[in-house]
Amino acid sequence: MPAASIEDLRDSARRRLPRFVFDFLDGGAGREAGLARNQAAFDRVLFRPRALVDVEPRSLATAFLGRTWAAPVGAAPVGLGNLVWPGAERATATAAVAADIPYVLSTPATTSLEEIAALAPHHAWFQLYVGRSQAIVDDLIDRAEAAGFDVLVVTVDVPAPGRRRRDLRNGFALPFRPSLSLALDLALHPAWSLATLRHGAPRFANLEKYAPPGAGARSLAALMAEQSSGRLDWSLLETIRRRWPRRLVLKGILSADDAVLAKNAGIDAIMVSNHGGRQLDGAPATLDVLPEIRAAVGPDYPLALDGGIRSGEDIVKALALGADFTFVGRPLLYGAASGPTGAADAIAILIAEASGTLAQLGLTGVAAVDGRYVACG
Ligand SMILES: Cc1cc2nc3c(=O)[nH]c(=O)nc-3n(C[C@H](O)[C@H](O)[C@H](O)COP(=O)(O)O)c2cc1C
Repeated sequence: MPAASIEDLRDSARRRLPRFVFDFLDGGAGREAGLARNQAAFDRVLFRPRALVDVEPRSLATAFLGRTWAAPVGAAPVGLGNLVWPGAERATATAAVAADIPYVLSTPATTSLEEIAALAPHHAWFQLYVGRSQAIVDDLIDRAEAAGFDVLVVTVDVPAPGRRRRDLRNGFALPFRPSLSLALDLALHPAWSLATLRHGAPRFANLEKYAPPGAGARSLAALMAEQSSGRLDWSLLETIRRRWPRRLVLKGILSADDAVLAKNAGIDAIMVSNHGGRQLDGAPATLDVLPEIRAAVGPDYPLALDGGIRSGEDIVKALALGADFTFVGRPLLYGAASGPTGAADAIAILIAEASGTLAQLGLTGVAAVDGRYVACG
């Protein structure tokens, strides 16, 4: 049965993935109230459609950060993508290119930034974690520049690793620790297990270079653990701004004050994000803080939002409340876990739904979406 929604793809991913993999993808921090809050915020917003408007032809084309994309949605950075399914990162990047939307590659990705830059030269952005080693940070920035990335996204909401209870309970660790429950989990999900066996365990492809020669998976995992650190502050950001010559985006801003500081620091755009509820359980829903951030930075400053978007209607709601662009994390990976065309299917679903939503509202393009088309309950 073809998937009709992102929820269908999530159900399919849940069936196909070992429990510890699905939980890694699906879970959030603490009691997961923040995860739920992101989605609930969208449900509280209702549309105010206008009728008797000719809505043909329609386009979702959206200008953002120097070029026009086919739709106001992109693939948010997701670490360890190929753990979800071998080849998931390439499949998602390829689907983003085909759909003409941006794809953000994560620092702890399992495909190298050079490989993704070659695959998606005009669509891929690189997301940077500012880890403990400045030498590694500098080298990652230089590699991203050399590979031709146009946009560097610095994630600012991981001053310490998130405490995700599902992962803690599952004993989620790299390399995998053999156990009876892991063996059972793998045996119950043979398609994932065989595919992963065939392709080999996922590797931190961007970080391998910095591991000591001959380092095993354990020391690479330790290296990865050092890629989150609490040392990033505004003065360190200034040095990154000086080193990176192209567009620089901050991801993980939730306060209007920080948004204004970022704008004044020469940051080109902000992604309003709470890391999909994976860091701070009590973080506000991104949609709830969006209007005050928009008011603080003014109408023309580029703002994107992620967190909790599960449909094309959600994308249009985010635009109506002040976003210029949106990103989705889990939805495309639910897709990638569902089958070879799953990432493309997820994008197609979001785009078809967003286009249909414009029609229902009496609109032919995204530029006209504004607060008059929604009511917040
Ligand atoms: C499994 C997983 C891994 C993630 N890894 C990263 C990462 O490496 N870097 C980053 O900036 N954000 C990461 N994120 C956060 C996403 O970029 C994004 O902010 C979040 O998923 C948006 O929420 P959504 O999943 O509800 O769309 C990750 C999210 C998930 C689900």
